[in-house]
Amino acid sequence: MTMKFIFSLNLILMLWTQTSYAGIRHQRVTWHENPSTEATISWTSDKKDESSIVYYDTIPKGDKLRAYRYVSSPYSQGKYARGIFHRGPFYNHARLINLLPDTDYHFVIVSDKAQTKELWFRTAPASKKNIRLLFGGDSRSDHEQRLVMNGLMKDLLEMHPEILALVHGGDYVNNGSSWPDWDKWLTHHSLTTTDKGRVLPIIPTRGNHEFYAKLFNQVWDWPNEGKSYYTTEIQDIAIITLNTEVSIWGDQRDWLEMQLKSLNRDKKWIMANYHRPAFPAVKKPSTARDAWVPLFETYQVDMVFESDGHVYKQTAPIFKDKVDQERGIIYVGEGGLGVKQRTPKDDRWFLQNDSGIAMSAHHVQLVTIEEDRLIYEGISEDGSVLGSIQLQPRPSRLND
Ligand SMILES: [Fe+2]
Repeated sequence: MTMKFIFSLNLILMLWTQTSYAGIRHQRVTWHENPSTEATISWTSDKKDESSIVYYDTIPKGDKLRAYRYVSSPYSQGKYARGIFHRGPFYNHARLINLLPDTDYHFVIVSDKAQTKELWFRTAPASKKNIRLLFGGDSRSDHEQRLVMNGLMKDLLEMHPEILALVHGGDYVNNGSSWPDWDKWLTHHSLTTTDKGRVLPIIPTRGNHEFYAKLFNQVWDWPNEGKSYYTTEIQDIAIITLNTEVSIWGDQRDWLEMQLKSLNRDKKWIMANYHRPAFPAVKKPSTARDAWVPLFETYQVDMVFESDGHVYKQTAPIFKDKVDQERGIIYVGEGGLGVKQRTPKDDRWFLQNDSGIAMSAHHVQLVTIEEDRLIYEGISEDGSVLGSIQLQPRPSRLND
């Protein structure tokens, strides 16, 4: 028996034990704008059960449903989009609001005559506290590698409990309109759940493989179809997630400018995140280069996360198309959560000057934000550090 076969058998067994609750599967937590006080708990069921309930509490209660102090019913249920002849399965979204910041929430889902085991997630802090976030994109085509990276994220979550969520930069699946693709992705996602049942929330981004797919909205509780850009606020940190799959100019650019203007007054750290790179290590630049980069520079965004290229990259600090150590912005990425890695065009000027890096390497990015320091680390599949960056807050934002 080959090692690969034994590995696959173990994974099948692990996935089966983590996801088999008869009619319920794909339990997940999604964050959008206010992760200190709000979260969506979602799942897949074989049948639409209008009496479904999420039981939740700040203290673990196990399977004693009557002991939970809070309950929430799905505000949205429906058939995943896969053609009129399909009878299911169904998505279910329960929105939890008025949560306490920096608090563990334990929950059990009862739906379609089944009950899950107790899982939990931690809300983001509202006051100053060191936090960590994972960033990464492109998990669509190399499924074996996706399982490896999900296992790594689980290990990181267990090792660093300050990790709050994964900002996924898009291209989850090969065909965003294929339910079997999403079914597999969501099943694999359960491998990021820790042994003690802690779920890794997802802050979602639309990639070109999701394009206008309805399933993206149905998986990630996305009520505003087609828009998919928003700001996630965690204490004095803002993550602006943009959508490169609709017009990058027009409404979205106007919205970005308004956001940056106001966040620049209120936040110490501003990060941008989107799928198609402005400073790519493989392909041609997206329209973001002309439409968004001048705004990032005017408002001195701290760091920008890009995906889509299938390489690991850290650019030099860029300001007005030149290396600028003081005012420059570093663009990092560019997709390595389960896709074959490409060969980067590392002769591009922004990957030179001793401060740029580009290589073929599966990776996830770990960002640690302390009082006056942001530490970025690119982590390879074996846990080693591919590259790291330390930033101080911009001088213009130190007047609080
Ligand atoms: Fe892509």
